[in-house]
Amino acid sequence: MSTPRILTVPTPIKWAQTAADLIIEQARLAFQARSSWSFVLSGGSTPKPVYLALAARKEQIDWAKTYIFWGDERCVPPDDPDSNYRTAREAFLDQIPIPAQNIFRILGEISPQAAAQDYQGTLDAHFYKTERRFDTLLLGLGEDGHTASLFPGTPALAENKKLVVPNTNPHNNTDRVTLTYPAINSARSIIFLVSGENKAAIVADVIQNPTSPPDYPAKKVTGTDSAPIWVLDQAAASRLNT
Ligand code: 6PG
Repeated sequence: MSTPRILTVPTPIKWAQTAADLIIEQARLAFQARSSWSFVLSGGSTPKPVYLALAARKEQIDWAKTYIFWGDERCVPPDDPDSNYRTAREAFLDQIPIPAQNIFRILGEISPQAAAQDYQGTLDAHFYKTERRFDTLLLGLGEDGHTASLFPGTPALAENKKLVVPNTNPHNNTDRVTLTYPAINSARSIIFLVSGENKAAIVADVIQNPTSPPDYPAKKVTGTDSAPIWVLDQAAASRLNT
């Protein structure tokens, strides 16, 4: 297993810019190779500054050839404050000239089972007759070692065929829909965006003890082509062995 690439950035503004630089470079490579770019957004609050930084540099991306997906979604309506779609729409998608038909949200307003089935159909159609691989996939990291909505001890961890399944957040027993390890690990580029002192311990364990217990879900994000890239602020990187 190749070693993860770690970018530690000192200030919040530079952290967001570094992530945006990396994402824009990934887009350039995708456009060069396949004249299109599939970009999977992560949920939670961490990526917001990165979305704003990308929107500020919108002229550097060909949005007509960009296809937006989500790594997971809370099972709430799209205008709910908890919706990952709403977070990305407000910080990013409303600021860029991307065709509406290029945005593929997970239908949080319907049942988790129906939403997962619907999204599997969306992915099957998008990848039809092409490699079933996303170009760039963003991930966050929870303090319990979850990523996307792959939470410790939940059924979605065992899915090795489907690309998307329903799951549950065991901390508050709420419904989720999440990409699975096959969908995540097959991405051409996987980027973990992590910031904050509260993530330092889990970051250090996932990066430095990838094959030893506890087997946090994020440890199984290894990437088939290349190891994940970690974009960390100094606080999140503060427990890494230097
Ligand atoms: C979600 C995310 C989840 C998130 C982490 C970190 O829907 O909550 O996909 O995996 O990335 O929980 O969340 P924060 O960025 O809010 O700390």
